[in-house]
Amino acid sequence: NFSPDMGELQGVTLLQGICDIWDTIYNFQARDGDIVVASYPKSGTTWMQEILDLIVLDGDVERSLRAPCFIKVPFLEMGHTSLEVADSMPSPRILKTHLPVQLVPPSFWEKDVKVVYVARNPKDCMVSYYYFHKMDQTMADPGNWEDFFSNFMSGKVTWGDWFDHVIGWWKAKDHHKILYIFYEDMIEDPRREILKVMKFLGKDFPEDVVQKILQHTSFKSMKNNPVVNFSCLPESVFDQSVTSFMRKGTVGDWKNHFLDSQNLIFDEEYKKKMAGSGLDFRTEL
Ligand code: A3P
Repeated sequence: NFSPDMGELQGVTLLQGICDIWDTIYNFQARDGDIVVASYPKSGTTWMQEILDLIVLDGDVERSLRAPCFIKVPFLEMGHTSLEVADSMPSPRILKTHLPVQLVPPSFWEKDVKVVYVARNPKDCMVSYYYFHKMDQTMADPGNWEDFFSNFMSGKVTWGDWFDHVIGWWKAKDHHKILYIFYEDMIEDPRREILKVMKFLGKDFPEDVVQKILQHTSFKSMKNNPVVNFSCLPESVFDQSVTSFMRKGTVGDWKNHFLDSQNLIFDEEYKKKMAGSGLDFRTEL
C-alpha cells in the first residue's frame, strides 16, 4: 500500500512508507536458523530467493510450486502484513531485505542468521531498476533515462546509493555469516554458484537434485512460474504490460542504454568510489 513518496533515513533514500513504519522494521525479531537474501534492488534477489527455497526444501519442486506467490519469502520492508507473515512462519524461514547493511535490524546479528548477499554490476542494475520503476506503479516515475541515470549516480533512488550498499555488505562479510554472490557468476555458471550456496547452508545433494534446482531456477522456468514471476499482482501494482518482471536476465544490456558520454562519467565515478574496496564487477562476460 505504499505511495511513491520518497523519504530519508540516516542519509539513505527510502520510500516514505518504509520510514513511517521504521521502528517496527528495525525491531523485527530474527530467529536462529533464519536465512536472509539481501541485495540492492534488481540484482537477482528473486532468483536467489528461489534457489534458497529449493535448497531448504531439499529440491522438492512440487512443494515450492504450491507456495503462495509474493509472500512466500517475506520482504522485511514491505509493511505490517509481510512482518506478520514472517512471525507466523515455521523455521527455517527465508526472508528478504534490500536494506543497506547499517540499517539491518540488530536482531539479525544477535541470532544465528545466515545471509546470502547478491550483487550485480551497477550498469545492468541501473537499467533493470529503470524499467522496474516504470513497471511498478508504487515507485516514483523515473523520468527519462537521463534523469534516472543522474538520480542513480547521486544515490537519490529508493534504497539509496548502490556504491555504499555493495561496499557496506562486502565489508560486513568479514564479521558476520554472509555469503557474497555475484549475479554475473550466477549467469556464467549457475551450478557452481548453487553448490556454493548449498555448502554455506550445510546441504549436500546428489546430482539429480542439483539438476532439478538448476532447471527450476533457470530464467525460462522462472519467467513461466506464477509463484515467482509476480503475475499474481494486479496491474495497479505491477503493470507487466510495460515490461515483465522477468525482463531479460542477461549481462550487458546496459550497452543498449548507456550513451557514450554516460559511460565515461560512470567509469570515472566507479573508479573513484570503488578504489580500495577490494571489490570489482564484470559488466560483460
Ligand atoms: P533484468 O531486468 O535485467 O531482466 P530482483 O529480483 O533483484 O528484482 O532482480 C530482477 C532481475 O533479475 C531482472 O533483471 C530479472 O530478469 C533477473 N532475473 C530473475 N530471475 C532470473 C533468473 N532465473 N536468471 C537470470 N536472471 C534472472
